[in-house]
Amino acid sequence: MYNRLFEKGHIGSVQIKNRIVMTAMTTGYAGLDGTPTEQLCRYYEERARGGVGLIVTEIFRVNQVHGVAFPRQLYALNPMNIQPLAQMVDRVHQYGTKIFAQIHHGGSTNSPELNNGRIVAPSAVPNVSGIMPDPLTLEEIEELKQQFIGTAAACQAAGFDGVELHGAHGYLLCQFMSAAFNKRDDQYGGSIENRCRIVTEMIQGIKYVCGKDFPVAVRISCDEHDPFHPDSITLEEGVQIARILEAAGADMIDVSNGNYFVPYGENEEPYSYSEGWRAPETTAVKQAVNIPVTGVSNIKTPDCAEKLLEAGVCDFVGIGRGSIADPEWGRKAARGRNDLIHHCIGCLYCFESLMAVGYVRCSVNPQAGREAAFSRRMRKNKAGDKVTVVGGGVAGMEAAATLAKRGFTVTLLEKENELGGELNLAGATAPYKNKVSWLRTTLEEEMKLAGVNVLTGCEADVETVKKLEPRAVFLATGGKPIVPDLPGISGKNVVSAYDVIRGNVRPSGKVVIVGAGLTGLETAELLFRNGEAESVTVVDMLEKIGANMYPSIFIDVTHQMEGKPLTLRAGMKLKEVTETGIICDDLANGKEETITADCVVLAMGIRSDNELIRQFEEAFDRVIPLGQTHRNPGRIATSMADGYIAARGFDPKV
Ligand SMILES: Cc1cc2nc3c(=O)[nH]c(=O)nc-3n(C[C@H](O)[C@H](O)[C@H](O)COP(=O)(O)O)c2cc1C
Ligand code: SF4
Repeated sequence: MYNRLFEKGHIGSVQIKNRIVMTAMTTGYAGLDGTPTEQLCRYYEERARGGVGLIVTEIFRVNQVHGVAFPRQLYALNPMNIQPLAQMVDRVHQYGTKIFAQIHHGGSTNSPELNNGRIVAPSAVPNVSGIMPDPLTLEEIEELKQQFIGTAAACQAAGFDGVELHGAHGYLLCQFMSAAFNKRDDQYGGSIENRCRIVTEMIQGIKYVCGKDFPVAVRISCDEHDPFHPDSITLEEGVQIARILEAAGADMIDVSNGNYFVPYGENEEPYSYSEGWRAPETTAVKQAVNIPVTGVSNIKTPDCAEKLLEAGVCDFVGIGRGSIADPEWGRKAARGRNDLIHHCIGCLYCFESLMAVGYVRCSVNPQAGREAAFSRRMRKNKAGDKVTVVGGGVAGMEAAATLAKRGFTVTLLEKENELGGELNLAGATAPYKNKVSWLRTTLEEEMKLAGVNVLTGCEADVETVKKLEPRAVFLATGGKPIVPDLPGISGKNVVSAYDVIRGNVRPSGKVVIVGAGLTGLETAELLFRNGEAESVTVVDMLEKIGANMYPSIFIDVTHQMEGKPLTLRAGMKLKEVTETGIICDDLANGKEETITADCVVLAMGIRSDNELIRQFEEAFDRVIPLGQTHRNPGRIATSMADGYIAARGFDPKV
């Protein structure tokens, strides 16, 4: 079915069993000493087992002095680390998957806190925090080259099949190649050949030390798409860079774009980007070189991957987040079970959690990063004990499918006529958000395969559930929208954002939205799309609009409303709703302010429904509250993890 995807391919002397490349993605699962932990080994092993042809690992640092990008990052230059790295490699190899190590230095994007207070770069160009890096001396450049070459040699000793130099995303090697960040007037600056010199010398050095048959790939940003740095790499230059690297002996070009000097991170695309959007840029590079090209392009589905290969856009498809979201992406594609793939929805929770807590978690795959914590096989319930799941949102569906896979006799009750809960709301705000509803379809299919008895249109109170005689009740009914107890809040002019999204109400004229989280902002976007709002003002009591949102998601949604009559007001605490609008306290100056509006939309979040939990706990011995019913309401990731973990560990005897 996907003929091109499952053709063998070559990178230099190395044969790859298919065209699927899991691109490099930092996980935060490495040990503080730079070794792979059991968590990291199992994570890669599962992706190999799941059908990836080539894994490019997350970044290896090349020194501990100014090369530290993350505290938990692989490091090969300590001889003690070779053996643990070799074990990781063996575990990947057992499935016929090849593995390249990605070698990296962040340049001025590294933080001084992790690097003894000093950051380095080709030239003194400030980083996004305004910190000025030290330009590297010629001696330091020489030392760095040897560290990259030494890392490649150490990785070769550990059994890696090749290496990839990270020359993309505004990191050190990209900074050298980009005239915006490289202002040097020695042999490493000026002409494009000089700017590429550090990379070409590294390629040649690795080939010299590791042998010409040891593949060296280079990841490039073929276009930095950086409007803030006028001399940054454009596609025209990106194509030239690819040619120069090929001439120096590179065995593969891994085409990415963007850099971390722009806040909207095009190299990890949020919701609104379409699948395959980089095809024109990747094609330009592919046509310029004779070595294989890997194209990463927000690819979510095997259909898109196959089309890119068929069209000759690239020789290998880069499946980054798709591999986090479903380690069996390749295996399911090979079996023609696209419907069972947990597709990446583009929510960027993976990156958000990496930045916030230092390791990756995934919204649609609660097992990501937990592979080592849970064995592959789940404990079976041979008696087929009856359990009831109340609520057919994310947590309920995930719990029901997991319980049924374990052998329980599962009935799921959902009061609406369709399953999906919060996914239906999240997926309805804009056409490009339809990706979110993929998760519903997949979970429905999984429940069907596992034999869950699903009853929709069925309001489940204590008495209804008692008739089913369950050993346990998993309560996943979702939280309740927060409605503050304020004067005027019950007025006819006040509506819930959820009703707007469901299409139950269509506010017009001047609209004020209270709450500038993702729901509030997406509601504003929807109002403009509906075309009935004359203007929209979004207020929030937080000091900054979008404070709790991952920046590129915030930029993505606000970008959709550019040029619209939208006003965003931070630090505004709702005090009262009147017939003509709202009264707020401006927290910055303590003054009261009136905002005129024809309609007031509440998007103030969700809170747990403790009363429902109490009622069920009084009636049943075993009640397990999940997802929004429970804690941290409102995140798909939390709901999925709650559903999975509770269902997988549930023991009817305990
Ligand atoms: C959590 C996370 C970590 C990443 N870390 C790296 C990295 O270490 N090196 C790299 O070259 N790219 C990194 N990337 C970028 C990915 O390799 C990939 O290019 C990007 O996610 C877009 O591809 P996709 O749409 O298939 O995910 C990372 C992406 C994510 C989401
Ligand atoms: S967290 Fe979101 S963006 Fe990241 S891999 Fe999972 S679904 Fe994709």
